[in-house]
Order: sequence, then structure tokens, then C-alpha cells
Amino acid sequence: MSSLQQTFNDIFKKENNIPEEYKVPVIHQREYLLNGELVPWNGDVQEIYSPVCIPTENGLERKLLGSVPSIGPKEAMDVLDACVKAYDNGLGEWPTMSVENRIKCMQKFVYLMIKERDLIIRLLMWEIGKTLPDSTKEFDRTVDYINQTIDALKDLDRESSRFQQAEGTIAQVRRAPLGVVLSMGPFNYPLNEIFTTLIPALIMGNTILFKLPKHGVLAHYPLLKAFQQAFPKGTVNTLYGKGSEIITPIMESGKVNVLAFIGSSKVANGLKKLHPKVNRLRAILSLDAKNAAIVTKNANLDVAVSECILGSLSFNGQRCTALKLIFVQQDVAEEFTKKLTAAVSAMKGGLPWEKDVKITPLPELNKPNYLKECLDDALSKGAKILNENGGYNEESFFFPAVVYPVNSDMKLYHEEQFGPVIPVVPFETIEEPIDYQVNADHGMQVSIFSEDALEVSKLIDPFVNLVSRVNINCQAQRGPDVFPFTGRKDSAEGTLSVFDALRSFSIRSLVAAKITDSNKELLNTIVRDHDSNFLSTDYIF
Ligand code: G3H
Repeated sequence: MSSLQQTFNDIFKKENNIPEEYKVPVIHQREYLLNGELVPWNGDVQEIYSPVCIPTENGLERKLLGSVPSIGPKEAMDVLDACVKAYDNGLGEWPTMSVENRIKCMQKFVYLMIKERDLIIRLLMWEIGKTLPDSTKEFDRTVDYINQTIDALKDLDRESSRFQQAEGTIAQVRRAPLGVVLSMGPFNYPLNEIFTTLIPALIMGNTILFKLPKHGVLAHYPLLKAFQQAFPKGTVNTLYGKGSEIITPIMESGKVNVLAFIGSSKVANGLKKLHPKVNRLRAILSLDAKNAAIVTKNANLDVAVSECILGSLSFNGQRCTALKLIFVQQDVAEEFTKKLTAAVSAMKGGLPWEKDVKITPLPELNKPNYLKECLDDALSKGAKILNENGGYNEESFFFPAVVYPVNSDMKLYHEEQFGPVIPVVPFETIEEPIDYQVNADHGMQVSIFSEDALEVSKLIDPFVNLVSRVNINCQAQRGPDVFPFTGRKDSAEGTLSVFDALRSFSIRSLVAAKITDSNKELLNTIVRDHDSNFLSTDYIF
């Protein structure tokens, strides 16, 4: 056995060596949520396989986790109709419900969701290969996000619970829902990222068409009943199946008012173009990114290395916010790459629930081959893999590779690798990384590593106009969730944060009247008798 095999030969374990507490039952889901019912499904199904492989007599095989419905265009249109009916042009039970009562429904949902915590965390590990600490964090962060959203909506409602007067007119201004929201999200944060759009969209009074992600779909199964029990019928409806077959007719119907999509700009653009009345469609999008790190000769290299490792390899580099290209100034390139290589070599690969494991199997079937193509391209153009075992691949497992020196002729300079490969680009003058960002199609974030105040300021000023967040001496990231999360160019449309998302999924609507004695009396009566959910001065505690 070679030393390489010895290093990695125990990545995948026989099933009887997997601790009972981390196992999941096989789930064959044969229902979907439509108009408040869990409707039985007897048609085509899609099997769900784990990135975790099991050694068998035929070699390593991805473990079968279960299956989900693969609905067709006809059923998809029924799902759309249920959503449209529940919204009922804004006259439905949910869009006209008081904010206080919508909050109560959401609190019930969180209560039911927390009961499923353990199973959902285990399903996240098995379905997408996320480590136990990160899967736990994804669940808990999502619960926090929902609770923060409830608090933010209370604040928003309190601010809107009074009348304003101007130029002889009295008005009450509130935020009202937009309509039917199609919510689609990615596999890397199948719970958290989808809920950062779905939950604010829902609580603002919209009705939801929820297209489940390809990987991370079973993790939502335990929540279907929670949606069913917490919200009025038709408020949340689920869609499973091939996007090209079921989403196309839904968009072509023109009945979707908001597209909430996290994925590639190519897919998002295609979806938007299907809508017959583009001006009626609001899009909240989180798209392509290839965030750069810039390590100058004035950086604290230990800080730079540890943050670049976190930034480029957390969840195997499968984060939209990941650092996907590292620029390092020539003067410190050797020392930096040496430290970076040592840190990567020390990382432990294994299964998601194993202690101290940082590198885990990848869910996307074609990802290892794509990463190999990127490496071959870079090697053929003069780069080297600096770390021992860099690029080692066995089925879904891919050990990270530090690639150096990368230049603009290589795929790794331009393409969003979304995986465990760290391209490092040496540079002489600071104009070079600025030039990269100017010419890039995306503009999400940058991380600057330097301890020289003047140098940092000279970088902040151009970069704040090229990207949407400049991180100083730390990795790129979305959180804290109260901060705005957005991007320029092909990276995003709209802004998300706990507070901003409530605005993104609503529109201001106001009731206005001339200040006359009879109007004052009229408005006072409506408010006193609680005749309207909108026109009200009630204060939510
Ligand atoms: O994939 C994109 C996620 O929103 C990134 O979130 O930076 O907190 O890991 P994060």
C-alpha cells in the first residue's frame, strides 16, 4: 500500500463502523405540500445519494439515503395555482392577516422546527457532507435568523403604528406583501440560505412556492408538517423535480411576483427572461462570486494564513463567500505559501461527524472531475501543486490543493471553482489585484491583509466601489446576519440582512386622507374599533 493510500485509506468506513448516533433512517418521501395537504405521490421519484461512500464488494458506492417525488409540469401548475389562490390578489387570509397573528404563526413554526433539530442536523451531514459543527451551526443560525426576523418585524411594525402628517394630509404607511414568491436555493446551505429569503418573504404576507434544492432536499422533509400546521392552507407549497421541466411553465405563466434565487447568474437570467411581464417581477438574487484575498508585504502572515484557510476551505470551499483567489505580494510569497501549504497539509479529511475533520466528501457528482480539469489546466501552464497529497481524489473525496503561481491564462484565475482548490497569484504592484476586480464579472467581497494603515486605506477606497464588502485582516463572509449581504455586477440583485430582507419582500402602501374633522373622526373610529388590520395603532410588544 502506498503512503498516499495509507493516509486516506480509512476515509470511507463500512456501515457497521459508523456510530449509531449519526446514522439516519432511509427516507422514501411520497408526499408533497399542496394547499395545506400532504398530498400522496405515486409517480416518478428521484433517488437521493449521499456523498459519503460505503466500501462494498464492487468498490466504493455512494450510500442511498432515500427518494423524493419528481413531479411533472401538470402538478407544478397545481402547486402554483394553490399559491395564487392563497394570495388571492392580496385578499387571502395570509396577506390580510395582522402582523401580530403572522408572527404567532411563525413562532409556532420555529417551535415545531426546533423539535426536528437532531434529525435535520444528521440529514445535513449525510446529504451534503457538512461537518457536525457546521451542520449544527447551520441549524442554530437559521433558528436565530427566524427569531431575529420576528424581532425586526416587530420594530418595523411599531415604527409604522402611528399616523404621519404633511401638507394637510394624514397618512399611515406600512409595508405590504408583493404576491407569489418562488423561492429557490443552493445545496451548500440548503436550510439557512433558503430560509434567509423564504422566511422574510413569508412573514411579510407573501405566499410561497418552495422549490427544494437537489442536495439537502431530505433535510426539509421533517419540516413539511411544521409548515402545514403553522400556516394557513396554501401559504407554503413545495415543488420537487427537474427545474427545466417544472419551473419553466411556472415562470412563463407570469403569476410569480418575486423570484428569490440563490445560484448561478446564468440560470437566474434564464428564469427572469421566461416571465412575460418583466416589470411585474421583482428579483432577489445571490449569484456568482470569486472573492479575492490580497496579502501584501505588510501583512501579519500568520493571521493571513489562518483566515485564508478558513475563507477558502470552510465546507471544502463550497461557499458563495469563499476566498477563491489569493493574491500575494512577491516579497512575501515564498514565506506565505510555505505557511499556507503547511496549514493545508495538517488538515484532517474524513466523514462529517468525525472529530476534528475539516475536509469531507463533496455532494456534486461531477465536482472532482471538474477540479482535476482546473488543476491540469494550471499545471500545463506552469503552476505547481505545493502541498503533499494536494488534489488526491477518491470517489467524492478530494484533498485540497494549493496551486502556485497562478496567472490570468488559467481557468483557476477566472472560474468559480466552488471546491477545495486554492489558487495563489503572485503580484508586484497593488494595481494588479485591483485590475483583477475591475475586469471580473462579479463583485461580492474582498479580504485585504495588511497592517499598514496607509496601504489599507489606499485599498479600501477603490474596493468599496468594486465590491460590496471589504474585509480587513479576515476572511470573506456573510454574517453577522444583521449586516447587509449583497454584491455588484453578476453577484447579486437586492440586499439581504435580517432587516433588509423584510424590505426586499414587501412594498410600501399607505392610507391617506385630507385632515378634516370628518376624516379625523372616521380614522379614529376605524382605529378604536379595530376594524382594519392595516389601519391600526396597536403596538406589538
Ligand atoms: O454560500 C454563501 C453563504 O451565504 C455564505 O455564508 O459566509 O456565513 O458562510 P457564510
